[in-house]
Amino acid sequence: MKQLIEKINKLKQQRKAIILSHNYQPPEIQDIADYGGDSLELSRIAASTEAKVVIFCGVHFMAETASILCPNKMILMPDLMAGCPMANMITAEDLRELKKRHPKAVVVGYVNTSADVKAELDICCTSTNAVEVVNYLKDAEEIIFVPDKYLADFVSRRTGKRLISWDGYCPTHVKILPENIVKQVRLHPHAKVIVHPECIPEVVDLADVALSTSRMCKYVKESDAKEFIIGTDVGIIHRLHKDNPGKKFYPASELAVCPNMKRISLEKVLWSLEELREEVRVPDDIRKRARKAIDKMLEIK
Ligand code: 13P
Ligand code: SF4
Repeated sequence: MKQLIEKINKLKQQRKAIILSHNYQPPEIQDIADYGGDSLELSRIAASTEAKVVIFCGVHFMAETASILCPNKMILMPDLMAGCPMANMITAEDLRELKKRHPKAVVVGYVNTSADVKAELDICCTSTNAVEVVNYLKDAEEIIFVPDKYLADFVSRRTGKRLISWDGYCPTHVKILPENIVKQVRLHPHAKVIVHPECIPEVVDLADVALSTSRMCKYVKESDAKEFIIGTDVGIIHRLHKDNPGKKFYPASELAVCPNMKRISLEKVLWSLEELREEVRVPDDIRKRARKAIDKMLEIK
C-alpha cells in the first residue's frame, strides 16, 4: 500500500492534479485525498483550485456537478460505474412529464440528480440548505421536489409547505431502521443521535438532529458530548474519528454502506492518474441550464 500511495503522490504532482474525497469514501481514499467534504463542498473546491485535473472520488452526479461548475477543468472518476441509485430513479423525461402535470409549480431538485435532470430545475438544493431553499419559495403556489421522497418529507415538515414529491429514495439510508436506533440508544444512553435526512421519517423522529454530512462533522466538533450514534453511511466514521480523537462513534446500522461509494480504490485512483480517465464532461447546452439552477441556490445560501 505504501508504494501505491507514493506512486499516486508522485503522479499527482506531475499531472498537477488534486484528489477530492466524499465523506463516504473508503478510509484509504479519505487519507490520500487533498480535500474531503460533502457533495457540493467538493464541487466548489474543484471550481476554486488552481489544479487543472481533478480526481473525483465520489459518485457520478458529484463529478457532473463539478464539471458544471468548472467546465475548463478535467474532471476524472476512477470508476465510471460509481453511480447514485437515488439520482438514477428520475430521468429528465420523467421530470418533464411531472412538470406538464403541474405547469405552475416551481421545480426544486436535490443535488443528487443527473445533469440532465438539473437542466430541468428552477433551483437546486443540498441536504444542508433544502429547508432554506423551500422557505425562500414561500410565495410559490406549488412546489415540485425531486427525487428523494424522504428528504421531501423532512423539508415539508420543517417548512409547513406541501411538496409534490417523487418516489425516489436512497437504498443505503433506508436500511437504517427505528429498532437499530432504539438498540444503540439502549447500549449508549449518553450518546447524541445524528442521522441524515435521507433516512426514513421514523428514524429522523428518533434522532437528536438530522444533518448533511458536512454539518454532521461540524456538529460533532462543536458538541460537548463524547459519544455519538451515526445514522448514515459508516464511511463517515473514519473522518469523525480523525477530526475528534477523544470522541466515540457507533454506527446506527452496520448495513448502512453505499456500495457505489466503495467502488473507488487506490489502484483505480492510480490508473485514473496514469490514463487520465474516465473523464466526466457535461455537454455545453445542458451545463448552462443546470448551472442556472445551481447558481440560483448559491444566491440564497
Ligand atoms: P451529503 O451532501 O450530505 O454529503 O450527502 C450526499 C449523499 O449522497 C448522501 O447520501
Ligand atoms: Fe446515493 Fe444513497 Fe449512495 Fe448517497 S448514500 S450516493 S444518496 S445511494
